[in-house]
Amino acid sequence: MSRIIIFLLIFAVPVFAGNVRLKEPPGELKKYYPPESDGYPFVELMHNLSISLTATISSIEEKDWKRGERWVLAFKKNYFEIGKKVRKWDKLLKKKAVENLVLSVQKKDLKGFKQNLQIVGKSCIQCHKNYKISTRVIYRFPSFHAVSIEDPVTEREISYEDYMKKMTDDMKRLKIYVLDGKRKKALRSGVDFVKRFESLKQSCSDCHSGEDSTNLYFSDKVKKGLSMVKDGLRRIEKDKIFEGLKFIGVYNCTKCHNTHIIQAELQERFKTR
Ligand code: HEC
Ligand code: HEC
Ligand code: HEC
Repeated sequence: MSRIIIFLLIFAVPVFAGNVRLKEPPGELKKYYPPESDGYPFVELMHNLSISLTATISSIEEKDWKRGERWVLAFKKNYFEIGKKVRKWDKLLKKKAVENLVLSVQKKDLKGFKQNLQIVGKSCIQCHKNYKISTRVIYRFPSFHAVSIEDPVTEREISYEDYMKKMTDDMKRLKIYVLDGKRKKALRSGVDFVKRFESLKQSCSDCHSGEDSTNLYFSDKVKKGLSMVKDGLRRIEKDKIFEGLKFIGVYNCTKCHNTHIIQAELQERFKTR
């Protein structure tokens, strides 16, 4: 019996801890992030909240109740401001506990201070658990849905996702036709792939500034990979093509996905942008 309990303790905890659930934050937050806002006023509020809370606690630790009163009032103002900025979150706030926190400082009541601090602290943790990551994913990162991109093969504007699908399809077909010895079809897929790959660069400058974006896209290794593919296509040389595609895959596709795809796919799940 006791073994089961030990087993559960060791193995059950990580399993449950591994389940992440993210809630969709209220749309009102959009106002407090670029491009609608110049800066990050909601994040700034969080910093002020955090500073005023730490200052309150350190004042009380130092038994400087007068300084503590000044800071706890600043904390209260910041805390209540959450509900003013984001109306839907007003009901999540433990306002009564904050009122009592202020009273406890005014009455120099250490026990009451600690009790109410715990309730307030839990409200920070609870909201962060549900909303911190989702808010960052949705509002801190510009959306790829807003980036329109012209497909050089069909000459139509398509979504980023569809562009990725088409370009990947060209790449897979190129590999398959090369392996199956279908030279004409391999050449056609290869030419489309190169067109789409070269043209994807146009999209980087939507968010990255000029000179910079070219280097981000065409590093020396990617240039080398691309010229290997182009070279290999002339006489459909399998090794050159595959080696070139590997360079492109590692130093372009994967590098870019490492920074961009998680946000883009999570935003897609939330469907808010
Ligand atoms: C901006 C840098 C960037 C580069 C460079 C890039 N991708 Fe992507 N890729 C993305 C983003 C962003 C998405 C997610 C799009 C979305 O879901 O809205 C994506 C999605 C994909 C998908 C999934 C499409 C689907 O079915 O939803 C595939 C496959 C893919 N990319 C392949 C490639 C390949 C192959 C290359 C290189 C030849 C490449 N990508 C280069 C950014 C990039
Ligand atoms: C009702 C929701 C909510 C409550 C309550 C809340 N927060 Fe936050 N907090 C957030 C969200 C959402 C973020 C993420 C914002 C972002 O990074 O863009 C955040 C981020 C933060 C950050 C990190 C800012 C940064 O630059 O990374 C700090 C520090 C913070 N909160 C402190 C606190 C403290 C201290 C409390 C309690 C006294 C608190 N918060 C209560 C929603 C809340
Ligand atoms: C929708 C906006 C958007 C588009 C389009 C975009 N990026 Fe980014 N990219 C960002 C943001 C935001 C960051 C985070 C760093 C920053 O703020 O500069 C970033 C960071 C990166 C990074 C890692 C940091 C660095 O500077 O090395 C790479 C690599 C990158 N992008 C490549 C690309 C490439 C290549 C393209 C075009 C195929 C592209 N991105 C298109 C928004 C975008």
